[in-house]
Amino acid sequence: MSQMNIYKKIKEAVESIQKQTQLQPEIGLILGSGLGPIAEHVTDATTISYSQIPHFHNPSVEGHAGKMIIGKMNQVPVVLLQGRFHLYEGHSMEDVVFPTRTICGLGIHTLVLTNAAGGVNTRFRPGDIMFIEDHLNLMGDNPLKGPNLSQLGPRFPDLSEAYHRGCLDAFKKTAEELKISFQTGTYAGLLGPTYETPAEVRMLRTLGADAVGMSTVPESIAANHLGVRVAGLSCITNLAAGLSPHKLSHQEVIDTSAQTADQMKTLILSTLPKLTHKGPVKA
Ligand code: HPA
Repeated sequence: MSQMNIYKKIKEAVESIQKQTQLQPEIGLILGSGLGPIAEHVTDATTISYSQIPHFHNPSVEGHAGKMIIGKMNQVPVVLLQGRFHLYEGHSMEDVVFPTRTICGLGIHTLVLTNAAGGVNTRFRPGDIMFIEDHLNLMGDNPLKGPNLSQLGPRFPDLSEAYHRGCLDAFKKTAEELKISFQTGTYAGLLGPTYETPAEVRMLRTLGADAVGMSTVPESIAANHLGVRVAGLSCITNLAAGLSPHKLSHQEVIDTSAQTADQMKTLILSTLPKLTHKGPVKA
């Protein structure tokens, strides 16, 4: 696929979405496994199925729908992606980040990424919310590999603040105000689809990871490339392999994140106004 092609595809997707709504979203949200119900809090919603958007694929994983929702959350114009693409599904990195690039193309200035993750830090418990401070890209791939799309961003993007400090502080402040407890830490993104071995989890801890998952890193890189501020929230759905006596299952991941969805929703709804250009956080 030529680089002009990708740019043209993003433009086509953006234009087809803009034909369906007048609303100009300011903030994007990508909802992880089990967190889809957060979309129920969007008012004046325009819902577009991925199958109606040019060049979008359909997610194949249970717990991931396949809808874009544009509307308002707590008065803030937002675009939500309910369902994401993972590298382990066999998609190329370019396809994995296509929805991210599309919502950035709609003009958002901030992207909130949510995910379900395993707790590598031994102090973490299932149901904890971790604000992502940084990531480890251990996927063995990068969405910016190949010729640089100079229309999108620079060849060598700086990632020294891949998770925007101002956005992180806004989430921490809201959590403190609402007395919602939280963790902070480094998210390790792995290819999957196998969960890790206990030895891999020990390795991840040595490398400085606090949580592990199979998403978020590509989207964060693509958004940073485009100059969009990124915030990341992990729902710690399980203790990573070797830390608990029972085996890991996708059902446990879905169930725990569904139980945490309410708190996540409260946190996100209350933080959104702080992330707008009118709010205290500046790029
Ligand atoms: N490992 C990788 N990805 C995950 C996990 C895990 O333990 N839990 C939820 N997503």
